[in-house]
Amino acid sequence: MDNNVLTASLADAMVRVTEETAIASERLAGRGDEKKADAAAVDAMRKAFNAVDFQGRVVIGEGERDEAPMLYIGEEVGTGKGPAIDIALDPLEGTTLTAKAMANALAVLAIAPRGGLLHAPDTYMDKLAIGPGYPEGIVSLDATPAENIQALAKHSGRRVEDMTVCVLDRPRHQDIIDSLRSAGARIALISDGDVAGVIATTNKLTGIDMYVGQGGAPEGVLAAAALKCVGGQMYGRLVFRNDDEKKRATRVGITDFGKTYSLNELASGETVFCATGVTKGNLLDGVLFRDGRVHTHTLVMTSTDGMVRYVRSSRKV
Ligand code: FBP
Repeated sequence: MDNNVLTASLADAMVRVTEETAIASERLAGRGDEKKADAAAVDAMRKAFNAVDFQGRVVIGEGERDEAPMLYIGEEVGTGKGPAIDIALDPLEGTTLTAKAMANALAVLAIAPRGGLLHAPDTYMDKLAIGPGYPEGIVSLDATPAENIQALAKHSGRRVEDMTVCVLDRPRHQDIIDSLRSAGARIALISDGDVAGVIATTNKLTGIDMYVGQGGAPEGVLAAAALKCVGGQMYGRLVFRNDDEKKRATRVGITDFGKTYSLNELASGETVFCATGVTKGNLLDGVLFRDGRVHTHTLVMTSTDGMVRYVRSSRKV
């Protein structure tokens, strides 16, 4: 891997971190309390990080220091021995999904050597992602969703009617949905969880050809770190709803508010991406407690060698 910084043993340690996080949050699944489920995930992730020999620094976290008691942006985790690593994390990607015991909740993180991940503020981001195998720049955030899916269809020699686009089911996406429908594309609406939505574009078996829409900027960086490992293209542009959000961006070093970030700007360094299923979903199975054991299902990917590994673990509880 990268100059012995992102070692295989560090990647294994990250698997352990998302496993512990998913297990803790699954215990709160289906109990209707998003905050409690998130707090359990955050607590478990922090504890697990602090057992790892590295100098971890949270660059995408639970919020700014004054609003997040743990895993806040800038917090240092780990034993302090070992490599200097930046971390993007979302202990519980899909708090509502978990509270309602719905599919597709994940415990997610990505790591990179210092400076390798965009310090995105906690705002929205316009996102556009496609899987590997297309010429660079075939899609653009400046084109309409219809134009983008038409370009993909043309390149892949398929009809637009046979193309599927994943979109978060939100009223703000009505224009996107109308544009795609007018072109004849099929839309797979998801209620939450756009990290998994973006990753779905990289796996032909999902049938998802493109992801488009506005979601959390932190989730955008996490998704980019994942795509960096398997290939594909992603573009992101921050969306500001008020001056406070612009101030947040300024505080993390953003100067150009209208910039479109490419995949390699969202995740400029080599990355390790790790996600463990909390509830069963399209990407991963969820945590399962059975016969005195707990079973987990994790996806771990590394960009240096393009490794994609699915890990099934079980241990006594
Ligand atoms: P949480 O885990 O923080 O609830 O985020 C879930 C999510 O669906 C993300 O995947 C997505 O980026 C974001 O929320 C979309 O935000 P909103 O629900 O405000 O549309």
